[in-house]
Amino acid sequence: SFVQSKSLEVLEFLHDAAIFVDEKGVIVALEEGCDQKKAEETILPKLGWSIGEVSVKAAEPGQFFFPGFIDTHIHAPQYPNAGIFGKTTLLDWLNTYTFPMESSLSVLPKANSVYTRVIQRTLSHGTTTASYYATIDVPATNLLSDLCLSIGQRAFIGRCCMDSLAPDYYRDESAATSIADTKATIDHIARIDPKNVLITPILTPRFAPSCTPDLMHQLGALHRETGFPIQTHVSENKNEVKLVKELFPDFETYTHVYDGHGLLTNKTILAHAVHLTEVEVDLIKKREGKISHCPCSNSAITSGTAKVRWLLDKGVEVGLGTDVSGGYSPSILEAVRQALLVSRHVAMEGDDSTKLSIEEVLYLGTKGGAKVVGLEDKIGGFRVGMEWDAQLIGLGSVEMEEVEDEKTGPVDIFGWESWDERVAKWVFNGDDRNTLAVWVKGRLVHKRK
Ligand code: GUN
Ligand code: FE
Repeated sequence: SFVQSKSLEVLEFLHDAAIFVDEKGVIVALEEGCDQKKAEETILPKLGWSIGEVSVKAAEPGQFFFPGFIDTHIHAPQYPNAGIFGKTTLLDWLNTYTFPMESSLSVLPKANSVYTRVIQRTLSHGTTTASYYATIDVPATNLLSDLCLSIGQRAFIGRCCMDSLAPDYYRDESAATSIADTKATIDHIARIDPKNVLITPILTPRFAPSCTPDLMHQLGALHRETGFPIQTHVSENKNEVKLVKELFPDFETYTHVYDGHGLLTNKTILAHAVHLTEVEVDLIKKREGKISHCPCSNSAITSGTAKVRWLLDKGVEVGLGTDVSGGYSPSILEAVRQALLVSRHVAMEGDDSTKLSIEEVLYLGTKGGAKVVGLEDKIGGFRVGMEWDAQLIGLGSVEMEEVEDEKTGPVDIFGWESWDERVAKWVFNGDDRNTLAVWVKGRLVHKRK
């Protein structure tokens, strides 16, 4: 069984199906109504493959393959802080927890240990693609690229750019050094993965308050020159929005600050977008900018409730981000669940139509995320020509199990659910124990012990 998003509202279930993946990790055939016999006698000869050459992974009854999750916004160096935020909100959270931790990762053995763990942990939760913020440190950022490539996670790697309004111990010296250091991390990726098969650089101005206009202009120019995507934060917290107004009085809104510096394009991922005005959403739509919804983080550090139904209705592409460690969990399944709950908090303010369905939040975690990172032709679903980024999900005992009752006779305990209900149980009660195996580009990168 294969389950995937057909559209925002519809989950597709393919049963008794088989998917054939070549040595490059590309899906070359997808056959419904295909048993072992048909696969061996009909499909393999058509592909010119012999049974001895292929490895077979068969799901057991009740298990299903699901597209790998896409985390469109995660801070790798903040992983040790996951769960630690107290009662802080964004600006004091950054100074109290975040800058000290990020700065400490210039010690390479520490970066090695933290980055290895965050990659392995997110893979174990089914995250096959992640858009990472690293730190300002070049060697540690390069190490994150190396580790994603060797462990096998598809990743966007962004050296964090910040030449303003940050502590002396953790700030770029100037716009010029910030750009030079960013180029050094881009050059490193060009050496280890020249065609960006797995690893792609992403330009990462931390957020407007920590960037000078000069730095933002130069990053905009670098984007136009290289075509590499951009990620940043927008309108996460009310005090942050106020600060941006004070720092950039000439711009109509927070979003206009990025737009005015050449940083709002169809390859820009804007995280949070909690307090956007209608003018801003219209501008983002016009530029075809993308949004990373980070519900765990927005609740944890009390940023607010993003109006996802509104963004979707406006035609803006939305994906999900864990935003570790503003978000406490490295799991996109948790973000899926929290996105659903936050949409109900929005609904409780009066408009019931803002509720997101299970189908919709799973779309955001897969296909929506693929669009946000610009890889919708490659990942986020199962189709011939796409790549095998997938997770095998098992829900414990889903085979029909019976107990005898003296009065009523046999009673079903498990296995009575419809497939829709089975997926709902996974969304609300599942965790990494249900993620039995994970593949990226055809390579097995995680297997539950
Ligand atoms: N805004 C600027 N930096 C950060 C960060 O590290 N996390 C979050 N959530 N928001 C930010
Ligand atoms: Fe963030």
